[in-house]
Amino acid sequence: MLGNFTYCNPTKLYFGKEALENLHGELKKYGQKVALVYGGGSIKKNGIYDAVTKILQEEGKDVVEIAGVMSNPTIHKLREGVETARKQGTEFILAVGGGSVIDYAKALSVSVHCDEDPWEKYFVKFEEPDCATLPVGTVLTMVGTGSEMNAGSVITYPEKKLKIGHVFADEKIMPRFSILNPVYTMTLPKYQMTAGIYDIFNHICEQYFSGTDDNTSDYLAEGLMRNVIEAGRKAVVNPEDYEARSNLMWDATWALNTLIAKGKTTDWMVHMLGQSVGGCTNTTHGMTLAAVSLPYYKFIMKDGLPKFVRFAKNVWNVDAAGKSDEQTAEEGLAKMKAWMQELGLVLHLKELGADETMLDDLVNGTLILQGGYRILTKEEIRTIFRQAM
Ligand code: NZQ
Ligand code: ZN
Repeated sequence: MLGNFTYCNPTKLYFGKEALENLHGELKKYGQKVALVYGGGSIKKNGIYDAVTKILQEEGKDVVEIAGVMSNPTIHKLREGVETARKQGTEFILAVGGGSVIDYAKALSVSVHCDEDPWEKYFVKFEEPDCATLPVGTVLTMVGTGSEMNAGSVITYPEKKLKIGHVFADEKIMPRFSILNPVYTMTLPKYQMTAGIYDIFNHICEQYFSGTDDNTSDYLAEGLMRNVIEAGRKAVVNPEDYEARSNLMWDATWALNTLIAKGKTTDWMVHMLGQSVGGCTNTTHGMTLAAVSLPYYKFIMKDGLPKFVRFAKNVWNVDAAGKSDEQTAEEGLAKMKAWMQELGLVLHLKELGADETMLDDLVNGTLILQGGYRILTKEEIRTIFRQAM
């Protein structure tokens, strides 16, 4: 394990079919005025809204609703929510939904008492809040982002074609509690479910594909990846397989709650490429990652060859006997591709509405990070996007 690090994750998790009962006890700890944040209405169709509002009523809370938080939540929607929360004097934010709703709730938490423009402050200058922040609790309905147990928040500025994530340094931005009932995820459309499965897998890859030391985090990552592969296969065949859905939910949370990043420089370039696609096309996060992953990993494979060999052997059970390292690594990526096809993931940017005319915006919208096996140039990013078309 290299480097010095701190590990602190204060989010309390309640997991399982009865998890929502714990909302009673949690609500008692926070203020009277609650903002209930949710998305485009799926929770009204599947009964989660009724179950949550019943508990809010039983606890005697004054509730204001901030509804209609879209996938890839926008800065404009954030500004609207800030106004609503200020008017109400919100003391506690309850987010019920997927990563978009939870990310939005965190952005709201740091913006309600902030005098500056939240886009400039948090998503351009990446500053930390220097104002009071509001506590956030979550009821998770979509599995993938890990937002339920981390301090990340991704906001989109559509007119600027920018989608930018800020992982806040202060753990008080992490949800105070998250309620994880795998049954809630069973009403997800297949497209969203599989996008979420790939999001989990890629979060693990982003942390795994960095560094050359012997590192506990890599062994944890391999275990998680093996389970995502197996549980993902089962969930696609039978979306109501509770065991598979519950494993995926737990995998997602541990894939991105900072644990497996410890001692790692981490890469995150697939997310930078994918977020740029999201900024230009407003498409589903997990699918944007799926479309750029294989071109990216093939591009950097030689720079991190020993890790790609290890990935092939330990994650995909590739038998390396009689093969060169390059052949073994390539076979690992081929197996990954076959699994992605089995899940029905998007493997080409064209399927997301991107085309060559967007290349300049795609390249300019990609932040270049330095933690992986190769620091990309703008020209290399262009090549990868071309190969992903
Ligand atoms: O809006 P509603 O009606 O709720 O519908 C949602 C939405 O259409 C639907 N859905 C959610 N739960 C459902 C359901 N439909 C039926 N039954 C249910 N139980 O699914 C759709 C997608 O939801 P969304 O929240 O947008 O998906 P996801 O959880 O993938 O979140 C995506 C956002 O999270 C960001 C992404 O960039 C994107 O903006 N990310 C956040 C991260 C973090 N905080 O650490 C890291 C990730 O890498 C990611 O960047
Ligand atoms: Zn992601």
